[in-house]
Amino acid sequence: MTASAVVSARPSVAVQPAARERADPCTLVIFGALGDLSRRKLLPAIYQLMKEHLVAEHFNVLGVGRDDTQTDDTFRTAMHTALANSDEVHGFDNELWQELCKRLFFVSADLTSEQDYAVIGKRLEQIEGQPRPNGCNRLFYLAVPPSVFEPIVTNLAHSGLAPRTRTADERPWTRLVIEKPFGRSLASAQRLNDLLLGLFAEHQTYRIDHYLGKETVQNVLVLRFANSIFEPIWNRQWIHHVQITASETVGVEERGRYYEEAGVVRDMFQNHLLQLLSLTAMEPPAQMVANSVRDEKVKVLKSIRWLTPETIPGNTVRAQYTAGAAKGKPLSGYREEKDVDPESTVPTFAAVRLFVDNWRWHGVPFYLRSGKRLAERVSEIAVQFRAPPHLMFGQATEASMRPNTLVMRVQPNEGVALNFEVKVPGAAVALTSNIEIAPVDMEFDYSEAFGEVSAPAYETLLLDVMIGEATLFTRSDEVEAAWRVVDPLISFWESHKPKRMPTYAAGSWGPREADELIEEDGVEWREPNVG
Ligand code: BG6
Repeated sequence: MTASAVVSARPSVAVQPAARERADPCTLVIFGALGDLSRRKLLPAIYQLMKEHLVAEHFNVLGVGRDDTQTDDTFRTAMHTALANSDEVHGFDNELWQELCKRLFFVSADLTSEQDYAVIGKRLEQIEGQPRPNGCNRLFYLAVPPSVFEPIVTNLAHSGLAPRTRTADERPWTRLVIEKPFGRSLASAQRLNDLLLGLFAEHQTYRIDHYLGKETVQNVLVLRFANSIFEPIWNRQWIHHVQITASETVGVEERGRYYEEAGVVRDMFQNHLLQLLSLTAMEPPAQMVANSVRDEKVKVLKSIRWLTPETIPGNTVRAQYTAGAAKGKPLSGYREEKDVDPESTVPTFAAVRLFVDNWRWHGVPFYLRSGKRLAERVSEIAVQFRAPPHLMFGQATEASMRPNTLVMRVQPNEGVALNFEVKVPGAAVALTSNIEIAPVDMEFDYSEAFGEVSAPAYETLLLDVMIGEATLFTRSDEVEAAWRVVDPLISFWESHKPKRMPTYAAGSWGPREADELIEEDGVEWREPNVG
């Protein structure tokens, strides 16, 4: 019997939404203000923070872009359109928009030219209404392609617009947010870290991985460390394996050029998937503060067994999507996408078996997979426990039993599910071999339990930077440790082009080779139930 009953989990006491700390007053300077990220993610996040009264009274946004035909007015119009069309803004409020609109400004500048920073500085002083020594906090958000990170951080420091501060408590503060990808290899990430840390202090530098802003990702730590029932079984003795999936239904959309340079390992594994793995596998931090949490994550990343040219072929699978269909709509293959080489061997899917070589995890496989144009959009961590050591319900029954699995759903339907076996009522009179057993799912669904949708990741993260809370950002050694894990794989794949690139049809669950990889160990990929 496979039908699964659902038992819901609800808060056992009345819960008020957690009061969030209000941001420090500051000017948010967005480099690349007319770009996609700014329009789709940053402006909606700012709007929402204003709606929740979480930005300070003295808060302004200075957009910076190359286009010298733009003015404050045209920038405001563009941002109005972006907000009105955003899926993340529910019920556009005109009064609130008026309030935000008067805080938006624009200046055109070539960010690779040091002279232009004087222009930005003048504009900042006008907006802030006072010269800098009197104290205005500034947050520089680099929503620009990685190719210009280096000149921008250099110019920012040399122009005096963003001085280095000695301690995190120094006021006024200057902070920088660096978008991903942070480098494209270990060597380039190290170079960028060296440059950044030569000009700024680590406490000023916020390397963003938006997955860390997702509610359920943060919940992994709460689930593990605020409950005593999980810790005793959270190890090799009780856990059979862990599956981490980040599947997307979208293709490369308008980002063919970027994707051809990146591929799935740089795009999803180096950051998002390894973050999920380290939160799942880390030891309890001494305190819930940025450096303690990051220390533990770094230890996990450093314990991941290195992939080598000898182990890569047997532990990894790469593939590319070919034409297919989803919901009756035809979908083109990767090689037919805009700005993609028709002979491209860039992987859009990867599956990897990793091991964390420490006492807790020795011998437990972590299977990671991610791909574009898969059957469903779902990100989840599934922890599968070992089968009971001895079974006595008869062969037929035992063959249909599923191992207990704890699933932390990152998206969609954020929540947690635990599945276990129960006896089907009335099926047998006594505990004989005829007993019928069925799996049930115990479900906790965030929105159902708390009656509200989680804040989008960028809202959480932007607020954290304005408060100075760095736990959900990646420290320099962490980003390098993650590159160390994926670098050998990327180099191997780039230097060993496959004779025949494995493929999967758009709209499917990935290539056959990925199933074979995991079936060798007698397990199967979960087909996530996205409800
Ligand atoms: C980004 C990747 O970091 O994450 C994209 O560059 C990917 O290719 C996106 O689509 C997925 O994020 P989310 O929040 O939609 O799961």
